[in-house]
Amino acid sequence: MSVDKRFYLTTPIYYVNDVPHIGHAYTTLACDVMARYKRARGYEVSFLTGTDEHGQKVEKAAHAKGETPLELADRVVKRFQSLWEKLNISNTDFIRTSQERHKLAVQEIFRTIEAKGDIYLGEYEDWYCTPCETFWTETNLLDGNCPDCGRPTDKLKEESYFFRMSKYQDQMLEHIEANPDFIQPKTRRNEILSFLREGLRDLSISRTTFSWGIPVPGNDKHVIYVWFDALTNYISALGYPNDSNDDFNKFWPCDAHVIGKDILRFHTIYWPTFLLAAGLPLPKKIFAHGWWTVEGQKMSKSLANVVEPNMLIDKYGVDAIRYFLLREVPFGLDGDFSHSALVHRINSDLANDLGNLVSRSTAMLSKYFKGELTTPCKETDIDKVLRDKFIQIVAVVYKHMEAFAFNKALQSIWELVSAANKYIDDSAPWTLAKDDDQRERLGTVMYNLLEAVRLISLLVTPFMPDTGARICTILGIDPEDQQLDKHDSWGLLKPGTMVEKATPLFPRIET
Ligand code: MSP
Repeated sequence: MSVDKRFYLTTPIYYVNDVPHIGHAYTTLACDVMARYKRARGYEVSFLTGTDEHGQKVEKAAHAKGETPLELADRVVKRFQSLWEKLNISNTDFIRTSQERHKLAVQEIFRTIEAKGDIYLGEYEDWYCTPCETFWTETNLLDGNCPDCGRPTDKLKEESYFFRMSKYQDQMLEHIEANPDFIQPKTRRNEILSFLREGLRDLSISRTTFSWGIPVPGNDKHVIYVWFDALTNYISALGYPNDSNDDFNKFWPCDAHVIGKDILRFHTIYWPTFLLAAGLPLPKKIFAHGWWTVEGQKMSKSLANVVEPNMLIDKYGVDAIRYFLLREVPFGLDGDFSHSALVHRINSDLANDLGNLVSRSTAMLSKYFKGELTTPCKETDIDKVLRDKFIQIVAVVYKHMEAFAFNKALQSIWELVSAANKYIDDSAPWTLAKDDDQRERLGTVMYNLLEAVRLISLLVTPFMPDTGARICTILGIDPEDQQLDKHDSWGLLKPGTMVEKATPLFPRIET
């Protein structure tokens, strides 16, 4: 496999002091769709997710429950892992920051940067927001509270190791300016550029006030700051610094770190400057998506409006949820989750447009040809229009996928669904079926229609893997060897294939 046919992408690693909700599911799902798409295009994909288990927040949450931090983590990790299974997430690894492989990597990168002279021991005095695990200067605070979450902060003074982040300010600016795709979307890139232009301070990267973390090499009094620890997961999972594990050489630098907009600065400034200091290549892209509100309100425990993904999957089915989350909101912008929008999408896009297309096509083939595809004959103008549209739009879908524009990719796929539904209406197979002289024409129309369904099934597969596979099976082809890289051209269905009559793919939801 050639080097450029490899793709490495990551989700953030999730805090274990909270159970998974729709916001977490969203990040992971977007990565899964990208991972499946890249695999279908012939890439070898490494897809990492995991959990962020250290820090004061987890330590406090565990003590409040009478558990050790590790007991709490072990319990909550299972909630994440079972949700990912239920959501059909195809991650290739799952990293926990409490694992030994991770500890070794964090200590090694710390040592490397220290040996270079970019880590020094100093004293820290600033305002700390525990829920965000972030230090703020006095001027950052809003009415004495954290500018991000609005909660109270504590004044902390402690001995601390510092990372010479300020030293890398110009290099970071140059890198971002020279690489327009490094931070996406563009609004986020601009936000980081203006932040950088204001100047970077050195960063405190150790704590002495709690113990649940990775010790600083050579000074057990200190544990390494959670963000220094957490960000390193992206390379510890690849086996860094173990030379005998070649995943690091194979997959680093990462093709895309997908994150929420709230953790942009950590990924676009902290992490790249750590890597620069350690002499390691920078990730190729950081893509920050927006946040979900629920029925117009911020999701929060106190409002009791947290959307629980397991419940949604049980009620509406996994593919409907996967489709909705990526279709409803442009990736990169904020969006609102509402049950009525979800039901509307399921009924109109899935049950009506896609579901009916598959039922009508297979039902007609079954009625007119006992389910057997015949060899297509002379191509008419409307056949050519359909074929050209498919050829053209497959390329457009690819373009959108490469740009993480999932909703646009789905819109384009649905243009194909509409084109196929229109082809049925325009070619009126029920009229052709009444005329024996039109038998060949009817066979051609049915062939074109089912070929359209086949291509649509391949294109929806990254978004809705079960549905894509089900349609392939109905079409009498093996979903396992129907990958986009070899099967995305028109006319690949084999005449003589037996096609099943489909039962409804998405039952309508009564409101
Ligand atoms: N542990 C850190 C990440 C470390 S990565 C080296 C963290 N964890 S988190 O569990 O709080 O959040 C993980 C992801 O969930 C973030 O990308 C965040 O944006 C996302 N979401 C949390 N709530 C969300 C919404 N309401 N909407 C969309 N995504 C949201 O941050």
